[in-house]
Amino acid sequence: MRLDRYISECTELSRANAKKALHRGDITCDGVVVKNSGFKVDKDCEVHLSGERLYHVSSRYIMLNKPADTVCSNVGEAGYPSVLTLLDLPKAETLQIAGRLDADTTGLTLITNDGQWGHRITSPRKACNKRYRVWLAEPLVETAEAELAEGIQLKTETKPVLPAKLERISDTEVLLTITEGKYHQVKRMFAALGNRVTALHREQVGDIKLDEILKPGEWRELTPEEIGSV
Ligand code: URA
Repeated sequence: MRLDRYISECTELSRANAKKALHRGDITCDGVVVKNSGFKVDKDCEVHLSGERLYHVSSRYIMLNKPADTVCSNVGEAGYPSVLTLLDLPKAETLQIAGRLDADTTGLTLITNDGQWGHRITSPRKACNKRYRVWLAEPLVETAEAELAEGIQLKTETKPVLPAKLERISDTEVLLTITEGKYHQVKRMFAALGNRVTALHREQVGDIKLDEILKPGEWRELTPEEIGSV
């Protein structure tokens, strides 16, 4: 990879400002000042900017425990900041959020720059499971399991949603696993059962479980096993 591109991908610098840093003599490769922006960096090369080592990560796979009052879009919306502002990473705003949660929903949010990987999570054809912990305003009707297993008809949809699995924790707290990602899907499913969601937390996507160590707003890189499970 060209050195100016390498610097720009590792830092907040644009390609133009990376070139300026190079021309100023701020960059060393393996201890030698390099001013040529077209210099080819190989994977073993140690690049420093003003004495600070740069690390290039080509692919990123992140799990974030989304706090409430943040949005899953690349820029803030409706007065809420983007979840990407929680990542203290260069160029975080260029990453993709694989599967959106509402502003008031919390929990597992997967973020990547690998479009194909993200697609495997969000594509309806892949039917990737998403498990939510749901708190309800009213005790859930007895027929809920059967109705959800059958496929609930949502208002404004032409056909029922795909079957979903319900586990009751109490009258007003349940775990729901769905495979689709329609707009406000979980809230609309419980509305169709005559109830109202008071809080919603995503715990699992496919085989990836939200790491209990992560407090709201915290994140970590996925392990190779988690990445490979999708
Ligand atoms: N379903 C919803 O209603 N909201 C979410 O944030 C996710 C799934």
